[in-house]
Amino acid sequence: MIQLPGLIDPHVHLRDPGQTDKEDFYTGTSAALAGGYTTVVDMPNNVEPVMTEVVLAKKKLIAQEKTACDIGFYFGSLGDNLEEFPKIRQSVLGLKLYLNFTTGGFIIDEPALQRIFSAWNEVTSGSKPILLHAEEDVMEAVIKAIGNTRQPTHICHVSSKDELSQIIKAKEDGLPITCGVCPHHLFLTEADVPRLGGFGLMKPSLKAKNDQEYLWNNMRYVDVIESDHAPHTYEEKQYAAPPFGVPGLETTLPLMLTAVEDKRITLDEVIAKCHDNPKKILHLADQKDTYIEVDPIEYEIRNELLFTKCKWSPFNGMKVRGKVVKTVIRGRTVFEHGVVKAGPGSGEVI
Ligand code: DOR
Ligand code: ZN
Repeated sequence: MIQLPGLIDPHVHLRDPGQTDKEDFYTGTSAALAGGYTTVVDMPNNVEPVMTEVVLAKKKLIAQEKTACDIGFYFGSLGDNLEEFPKIRQSVLGLKLYLNFTTGGFIIDEPALQRIFSAWNEVTSGSKPILLHAEEDVMEAVIKAIGNTRQPTHICHVSSKDELSQIIKAKEDGLPITCGVCPHHLFLTEADVPRLGGFGLMKPSLKAKNDQEYLWNNMRYVDVIESDHAPHTYEEKQYAAPPFGVPGLETTLPLMLTAVEDKRITLDEVIAKCHDNPKKILHLADQKDTYIEVDPIEYEIRNELLFTKCKWSPFNGMKVRGKVVKTVIRGRTVFEHGVVKAGPGSGEVI
């Protein structure tokens, strides 16, 4: 049995409130516990986007009643809510901005990006990160904004050689930039899309083999492995134009431990990218007496055994090594041998 710290997923979409047919705070955090996560951080692109103090407070109240693990939140902005920043800065872990089209369509342009960066940096004195959905075409503008403000910035779900090479250069230039990669970009490529159909569609999209190899070969520059857990229903994923996103809370750790077995990454690197670095980037407090136990056996990922409400995974049928058998938060066993023991509301809202 391997013992690891309770993992931190800094990038999930639990769909609550507004789209609880896809997921809710209890099913999503149950999936987290089953996947070895004891803290998750939820994105603001709800149906009613989290862009005011009132909407944020409402969301946190709902989470309080339902969460089974610890949960934090990000705020959102289109550049027209800067007066909200001083009111919410203590109540969120960071600010999330979208520079490319994705679920919700909360996209901003470059002038808005510069304005938001300055306002957030001033209000928080650089103490809380801005997280970006920023793909290849906008990376130059992003690097300019970081250079102008020195605002700590995390680039989410880096998927291509073009993106990561620009981030590496920015790191070497001393900019306060970190980045995350998702397991689906490490274990799937565009060649899997014909087989997966809608279940292989997400933003950023699956890339070419050489992009994937570049990510693996430059893992030392990747700060975080983030799931981008983005559940949509099985039915929606079969539409002609399915919504973007795949669930990932229950498959990320087993996939990464399989990569450890295959000597593509070390166990220490997995701990750094799934615990130490997200903790540092988001300035999270210690969770005392919190750990997980993993059995290094081989098993098959199966849709019907998942706790996520959407009950599917793009990795269905894949053999992986490393099964979470026990999750403990603050001395309390919250998941054991396939059973979630934590009730709704037993986790902490950060
Ligand atoms: O595939 C994605 N799904 N990418 C995103 O950026 C958003 C997410 C969602 O909310 O479904
Ligand atoms: Zn996301």
